[in-house]
Amino acid sequence: MKTFGHFIAGKWVKSDSRKTFESTNPADPKEVLGKFQLGTEKDVQKAITAAENAFIKWREVPAPKRGELILKAAQLLKREKERLAKLMVKEMGKVLKEARGDVQEAIDIAEYMAGEGRRLFGHTTPSELRDKFAMTIRIPLGVCGLITPWNFPIAIPAWKIFPALICGNTVILKPSSDTPLMALEFMKILDKAGFPKGTVNCVTGSGSVAGKELIENKRVKAISFTGSKETGEFIAGNAGIKKIGLELGGKNPIIVMDDADLNLALEGVIWGAFGTTGQRCTAASRVIIHEKVKKQFEEMLVSKAKKLRLGSGLKESTDVGPLINEAAVKKSEYYCGIGVKEKAKLLIGGKRARMNGCFFEPTIFTDVKPGMRIAQEEIFGPVVSLISVKNINEAIKVANNIEYGLSSSIYTNNVRNAFLAMQKINAGITYVNSSTIGSEVHLPFGGTKGTGNGTREAGIEGINEFSETKTLYIDYSGKLQKAQIDEVKVD
Ligand code: UN1
Repeated sequence: MKTFGHFIAGKWVKSDSRKTFESTNPADPKEVLGKFQLGTEKDVQKAITAAENAFIKWREVPAPKRGELILKAAQLLKREKERLAKLMVKEMGKVLKEARGDVQEAIDIAEYMAGEGRRLFGHTTPSELRDKFAMTIRIPLGVCGLITPWNFPIAIPAWKIFPALICGNTVILKPSSDTPLMALEFMKILDKAGFPKGTVNCVTGSGSVAGKELIENKRVKAISFTGSKETGEFIAGNAGIKKIGLELGGKNPIIVMDDADLNLALEGVIWGAFGTTGQRCTAASRVIIHEKVKKQFEEMLVSKAKKLRLGSGLKESTDVGPLINEAAVKKSEYYCGIGVKEKAKLLIGGKRARMNGCFFEPTIFTDVKPGMRIAQEEIFGPVVSLISVKNINEAIKVANNIEYGLSSSIYTNNVRNAFLAMQKINAGITYVNSSTIGSEVHLPFGGTKGTGNGTREAGIEGINEFSETKTLYIDYSGKLQKAQIDEVKVD
């Protein structure tokens, strides 16, 4: 079996711990994909030094040239798309079509950010004094620590790495221990694309050791994290003075009104709730259904969910792959138990599937009350709760009655309902007549309330996350002019 190194200063190196961990296939846990370095604080410190050294030169490379290297990475990703997608299915289980989409999302953000190399706009504005010029430019932050989850093992690292690089930062990636292989495959591609040594580094290992060092080390100037609320809270409390971007959980609603195209809504709910086996922070885990169409929609949903085929994501016929690991199966089981105890009505599923691997049956609860735990807490599995409401105002109230605010959706053919939802749902994203998942890379991504700290990824806001503003004043009057004090005469 292959043993992989950390990627530090352009080299594949062993951990100081001399210890490794394994990554397995959730559809067939006997299949081990490789051994990976169990990173230590010292490993992370080495990576920080490499990234600091590389930063001195990288920040001076003209941004359009940095963009060229990113474009090269996009081309290599395109060439390797199929191979990477298949490997991704093996390492984390999502179905092949979605794994291709994951790699495609990385290609898209690379192309978008490469183009940013020729923009990276600041702004100019008049000075209050004569013969004086004022403008802003963007400057890089320095060494950025990127801590990423397993559910989008290429796309999410790419959302962070490419905007960080185009802004002139150098990076250290600490990927989830469930998907180290995909992270290192990504490193190989970046290495091939020709980024200078130390510009991009990757340390594998646990969050509580390697991740913690990245978070707490003062030489790291920014942390961008996607993952659980608990870790997000730890980062907010322990990172010290550095820029922090947090993308945390979701409990995303789809509102289905009585005037909706129910067939369209059905497809959106199935895709949102069971796509990626419900393991997206944007997954639809609550369907807020108008009471007039509740019965009919329940029947439609159950009959469609029954037809979903579970299995290895490598089979083209599979609709729903496995959960990421045993702990995730236990978590879904636990929440289904709670749902039953809370007296929600289980329509279908609710238990692990009778097959080898980490499979869980697509699960639908109805008669769920907004305050029940299954309607409040992030399950991160194929479990969806139906909550019935009487009108649009109640629907929006229920939609907002959670601690998260990532994605949301409404199915309606009534423009008033659509606009009320767009204006009043407290979330970072609202879809109209589409599911809660599937954001595009040139638009900002992120959430309100417990989902984050106000930053957005991707789009132009992804540039804001990884740069800061410098203000420039150029006085060409040839004398000392004093703002707020000198009087400017108009003649
Ligand atoms: C996540 O689940 O962490 O819009 C992100 C979407 C994907 C991103 C999901 N592009 O569902």
